[in-house]
Amino acid sequence: MPAFSEACERNRGPILEVLTRALASSRSVLEIGSGTGQHAVHFAAALPHLSWQPTELSCQLAPLAERIRLEGTPNLRAPIALDVHEHPWPVAPVDAVFSANTLHIMGWSAVRDFFRGVGAALGRPGVLCVYGPFRYHGEHTSQSNADFDRWLKARDPASGVRDFEALDELACAAGLSLAADHAMPANNRTLVWQRPPGGA
Ligand SMILES: C[S@@+](CC[C@H](N)C(=O)[O-])C[C@H]1O[C@@H](n2cnc3c(N)ncnc32)[C@H](O)[C@@H]1O
Repeated sequence: MPAFSEACERNRGPILEVLTRALASSRSVLEIGSGTGQHAVHFAAALPHLSWQPTELSCQLAPLAERIRLEGTPNLRAPIALDVHEHPWPVAPVDAVFSANTLHIMGWSAVRDFFRGVGAALGRPGVLCVYGPFRYHGEHTSQSNADFDRWLKARDPASGVRDFEALDELACAAGLSLAADHAMPANNRTLVWQRPPGGA
């Protein structure tokens, strides 16, 4: 049986509201770190104009592939192995990239590689949507996020809740600018960056 995340069931509705608007003009979406595949199944079913490409680390791919085989709609592609450290990513150019709850799990070098990979994979125009907890001006937005950060670092010192400003700097270096920062339930955010249409 594929793995199951209660958090995905709770947050998929609010995230879908944001994606419905942010990805209205997109056709192809690359998801990084698809996990259980619950988001991919839900969003692909609700947004049939999109071709949704889930990805995962190769060691986590089997249960994801199983959920998508059992529950996926025709616009949900079979998942592929993708580690953000790979260069280049094994994908064709896409209109949008989505990732949930990944940047606080990855070490900082992986976060840098995430934005480098997004910069290379996104076409013009392009959209990047990232869901998760973030710090602002060096401060957590809640005590629960501060506690979560401590728990993450005790488990893996390279992980941790990321500073929005540092992520925005990496996004800018990849040719993206912040379009929206949505408050989400449970002290999470959905950050939306865009790359304008046009030349180089
Ligand atoms: C907390 S889980 C989130 C899964 C799912 N997106 C969700 O919201 O439930 C973090 C995910 O990031 C993936 N991940 C960690 N390091 C990665 C890397 N270097 N490249 C790609 N994915 C990575 C993990 O395999 C895991 O599925």
